[in-house]
Amino acid sequence: MRAVRYTGVGAAAEVTELVEVADPVPAEDEVLVRVGAVGLNPVDVKIRAAGTDFGPIEYATLPGWDLAGEVVATGDAVGSFEVGDPVFGLARFPRAGHTLAELVAVPAADLATAPTAWKVEQQGAAPLAVLTAWQAFEAAGLVGDATGKRVLVLGGAGGVGHLAVQLAKARGAHVVATASPAKHAVLAGLGADETIDYRDEAALAAVAPVDVVLSTVADGVPPLGAVRPGTTVITITGFPDGAVEALRAAGATGVERIMVVADGPALAEVAGLADAGRLTVLVDGAYPLDEVVAAQERLETGRVTGKVVVTFP
Ligand SMILES: NC(=O)c1ccc[n+]([C@@H]2O[C@H](COP(=O)([O-])OP(=O)(O)OC[C@H]3O[C@@H](n4cnc5c(N)ncnc54)[C@H](OP(=O)(O)O)[C@@H]3O)[C@@H](O)[C@H]2O)c1
Repeated sequence: MRAVRYTGVGAAAEVTELVEVADPVPAEDEVLVRVGAVGLNPVDVKIRAAGTDFGPIEYATLPGWDLAGEVVATGDAVGSFEVGDPVFGLARFPRAGHTLAELVAVPAADLATAPTAWKVEQQGAAPLAVLTAWQAFEAAGLVGDATGKRVLVLGGAGGVGHLAVQLAKARGAHVVATASPAKHAVLAGLGADETIDYRDEAALAAVAPVDVVLSTVADGVPPLGAVRPGTTVITITGFPDGAVEALRAAGATGVERIMVVADGPALAEVAGLADAGRLTVLVDGAYPLDEVVAAQERLETGRVTGKVVVTFP
């Protein structure tokens, strides 16, 4: 089969190649998937640029974690999927997933039946980003009916942010999101109640206090006026020095950095929301496998709206 391989540490155009490798063989608890689409995530390109020096996330020369496709074989212990099923998932994260390949062996526990309301590009694009938003809101206690709660999403237009906006909205929350002005209409269309230009300090200072903050922006810190006693602040990127202390002094509780983990059952709930028409995935660009370098370069601009996806024939 064909797979993407990193030949070393460096720029996408220098170290990315397409290679022929042996087909994977599923273990007894795994499913073999013929891949239709794979979402690219910042971690895919950061790990290419950092090599093994990337904290708890396993480095592999065969990259990729997201996938959507069709089951072509199942291990002996798998009862949850059958050959022909459309599936999507986040493979093994934070261990290596090797999904940028025509065939992938994935633990059945990391997969769910793909939502029929989404194209395969959307199915492949969603898993890591939507599970990050899902698990961040779990950490913040924003589960079930969140009617009456106010949520601030820093970085509302990116891969994680645009799904976080919709999840918070689907739970009934009032959603405030930051983005550059050109993206405000898109965010309003996804359900954001208020959109704020992150370069407009006066507008940021005027944000009324919220119950939950999710920061998806590197070193993103909410304006202190958005924090009141009991506000829960979650980051997926980390805080700059001194920010945690300042947030706690303003009354924030549960100030925390989370890291996503693979979770098939949560993706089954995501699929339910998708098929109910309450959650969509914006595809910034879909690139055929042969253009995987261009896909990485687009993601690395940091300016995408929604997700960058690699598609397979
Ligand atoms: N901890 C975890 O488990 C976890 C999981 C997933 C992702 N992450 C990390 O979270 C970050 C976001 O991931 P992602 O996939 O959402 O990235 P992404 O899709 O590449 O994010 C791009 C978006 O960020 C927006 N943006 C950039 N600077 C901003 C700012 N100061 N304020 C508001 N928006 C801003 C851009 O909008 P404009 O063009 O308008 O600037 C763009 O829409 C990455 O660093 C990633 O590595 C961590």
